[in-house]
Amino acid sequence: MTKWTPDLSTGVSVLDEQHKAIFQWLAQLESASAEQRTLFGVYVLTRLKHHMREHFATEEAMMKAVGYPDLARHQAEHEVFRTRLEELQLKSIAQDISADTVHFLSHWLSNHIAKSDLAYAPFLTQGNPPAK
Ligand SMILES: [Fe+2]
Ligand SMILES: [Fe+2]
Repeated sequence: MTKWTPDLSTGVSVLDEQHKAIFQWLAQLESASAEQRTLFGVYVLTRLKHHMREHFATEEAMMKAVGYPDLARHQAEHEVFRTRLEELQLKSIAQDISADTVHFLSHWLSNHIAKSDLAYAPFLTQGNPPAK
């Protein structure tokens, strides 16, 4: 399972905490899938969806506040993921969470954080360096 590591740090603590929580939900989702715990799977995916809604809103507001030039493309990525997560949540009611679903979510989220999120990091931390 992919874990949050310091090289994924955006330098903005609220966002890093939200990213860490994503990986915690993914670990829970992996257990739900491996143990075929249907209701727990529905619960975890629902909580992940709510967490992502809050996280994307926080991130987008911060990017907007600094006039991040690539905001539109970043928002579009979030939108595609939101739609996919919605579909997976509905599917989880009808069937257990598959290993493919866990893999897709882990891969998408870690890839998005490592590439798209780290791309905005310097814009958010300019003039506001993280506390040492
Ligand atoms: Fe993020
Ligand atoms: Fe993002």
